[in-house]
Amino acid sequence: MRVLVTGHQGYLGTVMVPILQAAGHDVVGLDSGFFADCVLGPAPTDPPALQVDLRDVTTGQLADVDAVIHLAALSNDPLGALAPEITHDINHHASVRLARLAKEAGVSRFLYASTCSVYGSAGQDLVTEDAPLRPLTPYAESKVRVEDDAAALADSDFSPVFLRNATAFGFSPRLRADIVLNNLVGHAVLTGHVRVLSDGTPWRPLVHAQDIARAFLACLVAPRDTIHCRAYNVGTEQNNLTVAEIAEAVGDVVPDSEVVITGESGADPRSYRVDFSRARAGLGYEAEWSIPDGAAELYRAYTDYGLTAATFAERFTRLHHLKTLQGNAVLDQSMRRLTARA
Ligand SMILES: NC(=O)c1ccc[n+]([C@@H]2O[C@H](COP(=O)([O-])OP(=O)(O)OC[C@H]3O[C@@H](n4cnc5c(N)ncnc54)[C@H](O)[C@@H]3O)[C@@H](O)[C@H]2O)c1
Repeated sequence: MRVLVTGHQGYLGTVMVPILQAAGHDVVGLDSGFFADCVLGPAPTDPPALQVDLRDVTTGQLADVDAVIHLAALSNDPLGALAPEITHDINHHASVRLARLAKEAGVSRFLYASTCSVYGSAGQDLVTEDAPLRPLTPYAESKVRVEDDAAALADSDFSPVFLRNATAFGFSPRLRADIVLNNLVGHAVLTGHVRVLSDGTPWRPLVHAQDIARAFLACLVAPRDTIHCRAYNVGTEQNNLTVAEIAEAVGDVVPDSEVVITGESGADPRSYRVDFSRARAGLGYEAEWSIPDGAAELYRAYTDYGLTAATFAERFTRLHHLKTLQGNAVLDQSMRRLTARA
């Protein structure tokens, strides 16, 4: 299958592309390259790609594509809070436009990277895909809107699918340090402290980046009737942990580290425990990576590749790096490139 992967130079895309290629798919990327140079360890090999802003894609660029995997986005809550209107513009408006153009171009599958954070504050019970969506941030709100608007485009020739990923973890050559497990392992390696700023009580389901890639692969090849206009939670019940439990797992893996729960950021209302049985039953999909294995993988990568405090806080932190690109006049205030890429 010829697959266009938007956001292929991001944290998840960089892990996903080789997994799709190994399964025999012909991958084309699309990315404006915000984090193209933010690499830890050996540089990845990128597929052929369109270096365009998502907001400027044309139908012609989608010709001959069988499926779109749509990852490109401003990808977390702090970014969304900093610039809610740009988050809306890229994450919602440009995503729905992409889905519409894909449909016009004859693309038959549109696999969308949604998030379990659409469940917001969901209490102690396990939430299924049918639970009410209660997004608490502009980022999560944008994901819900894309799901609604892309679902309205579904017909006999066009199948949108909504993969509601748990929070990712694990090594990617284009590392992100601003997601919980990657962040806690980094602090532990660099300072000896596993530092939790909340009170540690919120539930956070986690899933390895490779397991997310395998879920997209499963949706790419599943029978149309199985995936047509469906939402799938992506993760495993084994990795439904509280932030304090995640911190304890890190403390067990990183030698001589100590867990410190400061509580200084106050209560975090985003808390959800997630049921992953639909993907298990419908796609035969199981997420494989455990938290201790993921923490150990990160510990090895950070020490082998020489993670530093500066790169951890700056280059591998999405919000910081985008502000640097704006400060250096690489991006304008609406996150459009002012300078062409080399
Ligand atoms: N990482 C997670 O924990 C997680 C969890 C659930 C869902 N998701 C979703 O998965 C997707 C990928 O996440 P990630 O962690 O790889 O994020 P990321 O920030 O590492 O990658 C996003 C990519 O999109 C590109 N991009 C952003 N705006 C663009 C634009 N206007 N035009 C072209 N390219 C643009 C960036 O350059 C970057 O390469 C996102 O949609 C995110 O919301 C991620």
